[in-house]
Order: sequence, then C-alpha cells, then structure tokens
Amino acid sequence: MQPSPGGSLTFREATLVPPGGAPPYIGDLAIEGGRIVAVGVVERPVGEVIDARGHVLLPGVIDPQVHFREPGPTHKEDLETGSRAAAVGGVTAFLEMPNTAPPTTDRATLLDKHARAAGRCRAHWGFFLGATPDNQDTLAREDLTALVCGLKIFMGSSTGTLLVDDPAALEAHFAVPDAEARRVPIAVHAEDEARLVANKARYAAEGRVATVSDHPKLRDAEAALLATRRAVALAEKYRRRLHILHLSTADEAAFLAGRPRDGLVTSETLPQYLWLDARDYERLGTRAQMNPPVREAQHGEALWAALHAGVIDCLATDHAPHTLEEKARPYGQAPSGMPGVETLLPLMLHAVALGKCTLSQLATWLCEAPARCYGLRDKGRLAVGADGDVVLVDPGLRRTLRDADVVSRCGWTPFAGWTLTGAPVMTVLRGRPVYRGGQFLDGVYGDSLVFDRGAPAL
Ligand code: DOR
Repeated sequence: MQPSPGGSLTFREATLVPPGGAPPYIGDLAIEGGRIVAVGVVERPVGEVIDARGHVLLPGVIDPQVHFREPGPTHKEDLETGSRAAAVGGVTAFLEMPNTAPPTTDRATLLDKHARAAGRCRAHWGFFLGATPDNQDTLAREDLTALVCGLKIFMGSSTGTLLVDDPAALEAHFAVPDAEARRVPIAVHAEDEARLVANKARYAAEGRVATVSDHPKLRDAEAALLATRRAVALAEKYRRRLHILHLSTADEAAFLAGRPRDGLVTSETLPQYLWLDARDYERLGTRAQMNPPVREAQHGEALWAALHAGVIDCLATDHAPHTLEEKARPYGQAPSGMPGVETLLPLMLHAVALGKCTLSQLATWLCEAPARCYGLRDKGRLAVGADGDVVLVDPGLRRTLRDADVVSRCGWTPFAGWTLTGAPVMTVLRGRPVYRGGQFLDGVYGDSLVFDRGAPAL
C-alpha cells in the first residue's frame, strides 16, 4: 500500500520535546513532503508557517492497544469514529485488537479490516492477528507478517470469543518455526484463565453474590502474575519477542524488574490504572469495570514507579468502548472496558502539570517507546528523517471533561468531571493537519503502518 502524499509545515518557536529523554527546548521544526526535514533551526521555512510560541510540539502519540469494534458491534464504535477520537486526543497511530466480530484470525479478516481502514481512518493503523487454539501456522502459511503489528493472545477470557488457555496450544504459538513469523511480536492479555474460573467457582460455592467491587478479587493479582510469568518463560524458552499488555499489578512490575531489560520482553500500563483505584467502583460502578481490573491504590503507585524506573516501557489505553446502556447492566452482565483514546494525552499532560512526570518522559512513554516496541522505525520521534506525525499542545489549557464532548461513539468517559491542565490543539499526519481548532480537515487520512522487525532472533 502506497502512503498518501505528505504535506509541508513549519512550526516556529515551539517547545520541542526531543527523543532519548533529552530536555525540551524552544526551536523550530519543518516537515516537507511528509517527513521532518529540520529540527531546532529552520532556515528555509516550507508550507504554512505556524507561530507555536507558548505551545509544546510532541511526536504524534501512538496508542498500541485499542478496540474499535469494526466489523461487529459498530453501535459502540467503528474505525472511523475510533480514529476520530484518536486524532482529537493527539493520537496519530493506533494498533487495533482482533476481538471484533468475526475475530481477526486469518488473511480474509485482516484484509477486510485494512480495506475498511483505508480512506476512513483519521490516524495511521496497525492490526493484530488474534490467536486461537489452532491457528499457530496462520502467520506463515497465509503470509501475513507484513499485514500485522503483532499476534494477540488472550490467556484469560474477556470481551469476545478469543481465548488460548490450553498450555500446549499456548506454547505452540511461541514455538512456531518459520523465521518471518517468529519476528512478529506476541502481545498477551495476561490473566490465568484457570485461576479466574476457580475464583468464580469459589464465590459460587460460598454462596456469595459478587458486586463490581469484587471484580479485582475475582480477577485477582495472582491471576495476572501467573499468566505474566508463564508468558515470559515461554518467550525466554523460544526467544520470541513478547509484549505484556495492560500490566495492572505491583507483583508483575516487581517480577519484570527482576529480569534483564534485554528487549525480549516489553510491557505497557494504562492511565486507568494510574489514575483510578478500587475506591472508584463506588463512584463509577460498572463503568470502572475492565479486564484486568482497576485495583487497590498500592498497585497504581507501583506502576507509576515502574514507569519511572523504565521497567514498564510505555502507555496504552485499551480503549474499549461500550454504550452506557450496556454498562448500566448489573455486575456479571455489564461488559468490561472503558474508552480512553482521546483522554490518554490530556491525562498525561495533566500529570506533567502536577509534577508526576516530565514532558520528556511523556514523549518516551507515549511516542518513542511504543514505536520501539512494535518496530515503527519512522514514528515517535522529532528527528530529521522521521515521519511528520506531530501534535501541538497548549500546556496551560484547562478543560473539564464531559461525556457530551466525547468523540468516541460510546459517548462517555470515566474521567467526566475532571478538570485537566494541558490539551492537544492540532494533530498532524505526515505534515498535513488532520484535526485543528476543533475541526477535521477534508481529505486527510492515515496510512497502514510499516513494521521494521530488524534482525531475526533476539
Ligand atoms: O476490559 C476489557 N475490555 N479488557 C479486554 O481485554 C477487552 C476489552 C474489550 O474489548 O471490551
């Protein structure tokens, strides 16, 4: 697939956030033909010249875990509405999960998603292939490696039908012999299904009626740790690149801190785990219900610390839209998941305003690290030669989040009523503004992402 033609733009006197954790500085940046051609000093401006004084220029945010529901339950979201929500939130690239209906488990369903995305998505896209108990040879046999960002394995059941809980079937996914397929990262939803089932059975045997506050007990920290340990052991045994999705416990963070940071295993956590905790079930009810669950505050604190220590590599949203009607069902019938793609950057800018992290860390966790984890060579950095995907931010803009302003089709946010400092004001795809001043620009769409997987075995 050919990328769409890039545009040209020059930003003057922005606060630039450079790669590698280097401190921000005031400078210019030029994008020509979709690529960054100058950073710091721009002697020959190209395209429209934007006075960016008082604003921060960041690489476009990469959200490496979203659920955009298409094909299937598009009453919650579709690729168009989900990607619009992304663009509003300063997200220029997303990696989308396979638990759609039908699930994305073969060439036909993958090609269908790519065809649906082209000319409709307001951000660049990548799609995961979903693992099933018996599709281990699909990546190689159907020649899918360039069409996928990764292989997603649900080790514990969640929304949708995908599940690989049989240990032999799981191991067979890590053990595939094909050299190209082996370069595709495996991303795991790490919750141990047997433990989830046993916890539920224990509640039933004791005659206990679970409420939403029991969600982190039914899907407990031990279930997450067991699965993460198993996945890491398999990655080490077969030398397969592994990414742990939505890390939610202090226990997993401590476990990962104890192994070498060799690039074989990477991980992400979510704003939900950093900003909410188990006390929020009372306030939010099943709106706060997701898998893995929001847990006691000590877990959130450990996840912040693990991000700062570089044990957790990046942030994602697990944007999982469900309608308010669906979420209003009683616990046990309400679906799990919260939207988040449009609040990721605002929440983290707010963290910067509160002194919880720096702008450089934000750029590492939201831009550079997800690009590194998935081999997006030309993304996630303000550097000459990189793609001109950028987001201009007003760091002092204070906004109170409201359900009515949510762009995602689901129409709500767990952060309604929160007043945040810092907001994106312009989102740019390869040198062309896609969202600016509250408007979408005509004819600007994302491209299929390209994955550079480097040398074969790690
Ligand atoms: O809470 C969740 N919702 N966790 C998942 O793993 C899936 C997601 C969804 O698709 O709704």
